[in-house]
Amino acid sequence: MIIAVDGPAASGKGTIARALARHYALPHLDTGLLYRAVAAKLLRDELNPEREADAVSACDFDDALLDDPYLRSDAVGKAASQASAHPLVRSALLQRQRRFAQQPGGAVLDGRDIGTVIVPEADAKLFVKATPMIRARRRHAELARHGSAPSLDKVLADIRARDDRDATRKQAPMRQAADAALLDTSFLSIDAAIQRAIALVEARMARHQSVA
Ligand code: CDP
Ligand code: CDP
Repeated sequence: MIIAVDGPAASGKGTIARALARHYALPHLDTGLLYRAVAAKLLRDELNPEREADAVSACDFDDALLDDPYLRSDAVGKAASQASAHPLVRSALLQRQRRFAQQPGGAVLDGRDIGTVIVPEADAKLFVKATPMIRARRRHAELARHGSAPSLDKVLADIRARDDRDATRKQAPMRQAADAALLDTSFLSIDAAIQRAIALVEARMARHQSVA
């Protein structure tokens, strides 16, 4: 069973993907972390995420970097979005994501292009969204908890810029797959969003079974 969860920043896709993985006892991959690791390596080496050659050279990052709290910062999120627009960066990270998805028993992956490019054959696909202002408030609260929040206005502007870049890039832009169920978490608590996600996956699986 492969579950694909896509959506913009702070839509709640990571929280939902982790909960689905727990519910179905499946391994989970936050694919955004791979792009964030590339970005963190670029920034630390004082390279330019907008230069494709620089970005490609950072794709062989050390896996220990995936646990570094620096990856969660806004600066790394922005650089990840810049680096991830390069086709060669996306292709360098593709096989790792596909191998994870295709392990025996299945997996849950969350990102921007899981249902459209990484595993178009996924058994269940969700596209998670929420209004930009609500996402900005969530991200702002998260950054404040880690002690480094810029103003809410700046977080909102960054979220809008990142949405725009992620949705308009040529290679694997963020978009809802034709067969993905839409889940708007704007006015849902975390628990309600998780319950709704499980119900959507169950409905999708029941449909597969009735077709088979
Ligand atoms: O957690 P948040 O949604 O803020 O971001 P993330 O999922 O960690 O992703 C950081 C950046 O990586 C995104 O803005 C995308 O540009 C890029 N990304 C991507 O291009 N494709 C993915 N499957 C996942 C992330
Ligand atoms: O993975 P993504 O960037 O899409 O979002 P997340 O990390 O799952 O959620 C971003 C923040 O919003 C976290 O602090 C969640 O606890 C919070 N959240 C929320 O307040 N309400 C929801 N329905 C979902 C997430």
